[in-house]
Amino acid sequence: MTSESLTRSLELFAQASCHVPLGDGAVWLRGFARSRGGELIDALHGVAREAPLRHMATPGGSTMSVAMTNCGAVGWVSDRQGYRYDPTDPGSGRCWPAMPPPFVDLATRAACAAGFPGFEPDACLINRYEPGARLSLHQDKNERDLRSPIVSVSLGLEAVFLWGGRRRGDRPRRVPLVHGDVVVWGGPARLAFHGVMPLPEGTHPLTGRARYNLTFRHAI
Ligand code: SIN
Ligand code: FE2
Repeated sequence: MTSESLTRSLELFAQASCHVPLGDGAVWLRGFARSRGGELIDALHGVAREAPLRHMATPGGSTMSVAMTNCGAVGWVSDRQGYRYDPTDPGSGRCWPAMPPPFVDLATRAACAAGFPGFEPDACLINRYEPGARLSLHQDKNERDLRSPIVSVSLGLEAVFLWGGRRRGDRPRRVPLVHGDVVVWGGPARLAFHGVMPLPEGTHPLTGRARYNLTFRHAI
């Protein structure tokens, strides 16, 4: 083997070990956003200064343990009336902040790496988990365009992501997501059930006692 082909083989091996398939249409891109983590967290704090993170109400009348905000043309909101995408922040009555360029760049590159070129996100939901916060199994299905994938970026503390199947009753796989991991799902996996186990106690050098998740979608 020449040194060139050895280098190429090592590159392919590194790429394959970072691209972990979770099923047809779903891939876990380990460490994909790690080198840009600080920049993404700074941009996230900029969004949260304009549109503060808040615990939304559910249609059933409880309060979500995850704090949320949005950026982009529309934002995902929940209240007693139900779930929807709204062009304005119900807290302030103003438009959601624009999606920061590093967000758009990362989301489109991750979608492309996962086999979904041409992804144009118009919504980014920002989730903040503090220890104990969790997200029960659900499908992302409030988007008008189900042909586009979901790109989900993890920052800060590690969490166990639950990756289920097309039916709520399918036993989910436990995926330990760390800072900089990205999960992309689309096509046959677009409506898969997923959730997050209660966040364990901990501190992270960049986020303190928190995990953040950015979920990019083409919603409208
Ligand atoms: C979500 O499903 O909206 C968030 C998933 C995550 O926090 O990893
Ligand atoms: Fe989701």
